[in-house]
Amino acid sequence: MIQTLTLLFFILFHPTHSKPDYLKLNLRYNGNHHHSLSQTLTQDSIRLSFLSSRTTLSAPIISGASTGSGQYLVEFHLGTPPQRLHLIVDTGSDLIWTRCSPCRSNCSFHHPPGTTFLPRHSITFSPFHCYSPSCHLIPHPSHSCNHTRLHSPCRYHYAYADSSSTSGFFSHDVATLHTLSGHPTHIPNLPFGCAFNISPGPALSSAHGVLGLGRGPISFPSHTSSNLGNLFSYCLLDYTLSPPPTSFLLIGHHSIKPSFTSNLSFTPLLSNPVSPTFYYIHITAVYLNNIPLPIDPDVWVLDPNTGNGGTIIDSGTTLSFLPTPAYDQIVSTMALKIPDRFKISHGPPGFDLCVNSTKPLRKPKLVFKLLGGAVLAPPPGNYFIEAADGVTCLALQPADAGFGVIGNLMQQGFLFVFDRDASRLGFSRNGCAV
Ligand SMILES: *[C@@H]1O[C@H](CO)[C@@H](O)[C@H](O)[C@H]1NC(C)=O
Ligand SMILES: *[C@@H]1O[C@H](CO)[C@@H](O)[C@H](O)[C@H]1NC(C)=O
Ligand SMILES: *[C@@H]1O[C@H](CO)[C@@H](O)[C@H](O)[C@H]1NC(C)=O
Ligand SMILES: *[C@@H]1O[C@H](CO)[C@@H](O)[C@H](O)[C@H]1NC(C)=O
Repeated sequence: MIQTLTLLFFILFHPTHSKPDYLKLNLRYNGNHHHSLSQTLTQDSIRLSFLSSRTTLSAPIISGASTGSGQYLVEFHLGTPPQRLHLIVDTGSDLIWTRCSPCRSNCSFHHPPGTTFLPRHSITFSPFHCYSPSCHLIPHPSHSCNHTRLHSPCRYHYAYADSSSTSGFFSHDVATLHTLSGHPTHIPNLPFGCAFNISPGPALSSAHGVLGLGRGPISFPSHTSSNLGNLFSYCLLDYTLSPPPTSFLLIGHHSIKPSFTSNLSFTPLLSNPVSPTFYYIHITAVYLNNIPLPIDPDVWVLDPNTGNGGTIIDSGTTLSFLPTPAYDQIVSTMALKIPDRFKISHGPPGFDLCVNSTKPLRKPKLVFKLLGGAVLAPPPGNYFIEAADGVTCLALQPADAGFGVIGNLMQQGFLFVFDRDASRLGFSRNGCAV
C-alpha cells in the first residue's frame, strides 16, 4: 500500500516541464484498402445518420462511433502504469471512450494488446461518483443517485440509431502522451467513458474507442486547453502512398510555428447551438476551373434556430457531402468539362461521375471559397478516389443528413488548425512538413 501511494505521489507530482511544449501524436490510417467504394459510401452514410441524430435536441448523444472505414487512429496511453490503446480521432464527437474489461488476470489472453483498457491494472483509475458535477456532463440513466453511498459510479448508456449501444462508467485516469521533443507528459484526471458493454452493430463493430476532439466541455482539447492552450491541429496524409507517410495530431498552442502562421488561411468556425459538438465552416462559393458555379448562396447557410444546414469539417467521414443543389451543379458542370472518351458509365453504385484513370486526363480544378475570403483549393486527388483498377470517381455525395461535410479525403495534405479560442480554422497546403 505504501509503495502504491509513493508511486502515485511520484506520478502525480513529479515535475514535468516547467513550460510544456505541445503534444505530437502520430496517426495511423485504419481504413481497409480492400473496401469497395460502395462500402465506403455505406459506412459514411451510417456515420452521418448517426451524427445527424445529434443535430436534434431530443437525442443528446455525444459519443462518436467507428464505421471502420476511413478512420485515423491515435496511439494513446492511459492509466498507471500506462496501457496502450488505439483510439479513433474524431472531430465529430466529444466523449473520449474506450472498451474496458473488469478482467483481473490472464487478460491478454482475452484482450489483444491495444484494444481494451483494464481498470483493475491501473492504480490511478477512478469512476466519477454519480453525484459529482462531472456526471452531469454526460447523459446518464435517470435512476436517482444515492449520494450517501460511497461506491455509486457515474453510469452512462447510449443507444444508437442502428441498434448498437454502449454503456459503462464515466471515469477518470492519467493519460501519458509524448510531446514533440519526445518527453512524456502526464495529463491527470482525464475524463473518459469506460465501456464495459458494447453491443455490436454496424456502427460500433470495429471500434476500440474514440478520442473526441469536438467543441463540447468533455472533449480532449477542452480538457487540455488550460495547460496546453485551446488549439489543436492535424495533418492527414495520403494513405494510398507506399510506404504511407505519417499523419499526425498536434495538441497545444505552440503547435503552429510563427513561420507557418503567415502561410495559414483562416475562416471563421461557426457554432450550432443545437449541436455544439461540431466545427462548422461556411462555404460562400464553388469554382470550377476558376469559373464560379451558379449555386444559390442560401444552400450553404446554417440556420441557428432549427440547427439545419451548414457544413462541418469532420475527421471521421471519408467522402464529402454537399447540399443537393450544389452537388448537382458541380457534377453536371464537371461532366461537361470532361470529354466523353474519358467517362465510364458503369461506375460503382451511388457514384455519378467516374473516369478511366489509365488515360491522361487533366481533372477540372475544384475550389471552395470560404467565409472571410479564404480559398480551399484541394488537389484533384482529394476529390477523385480510386474505385477499381483504372477507374476513378468523384468523391462527392449529395447531403441528405441536413448538413454538409468536408470529409477526411478532402483534407489530405493540408495542415488544419482548430483555433478554438479565436473560433477560426486555419489551413495551409505546405504546413505538413513540421
Ligand atoms: C488463460 O485462460 C485460458 C482460457 O481461459 C486458458 O486456456 C489459458 O491456459 C490461461 N493462461 C494462463 C497463462 O493462465
Ligand atoms: C442510500 O445508501 C445508504 C447506504 O448504503 C442506505 O442506508 C440508504 O437507505 C440509501 N438511500 C436510499 C434512498 O436508497
Ligand atoms: C510559405 O509560403 C511561401 C510561398 O508560398 C513558401 O515559399 C514558404 O516556404 C512557406 N513557408 C513555410 C514555412 O512553409
Ligand atoms: C480504359 O482505357 C483503356 C485504354 O483505352 C482501355 O483498355 C480500358 O478497357 C478502359 N477501362 C475501362 C474500365 O473502361
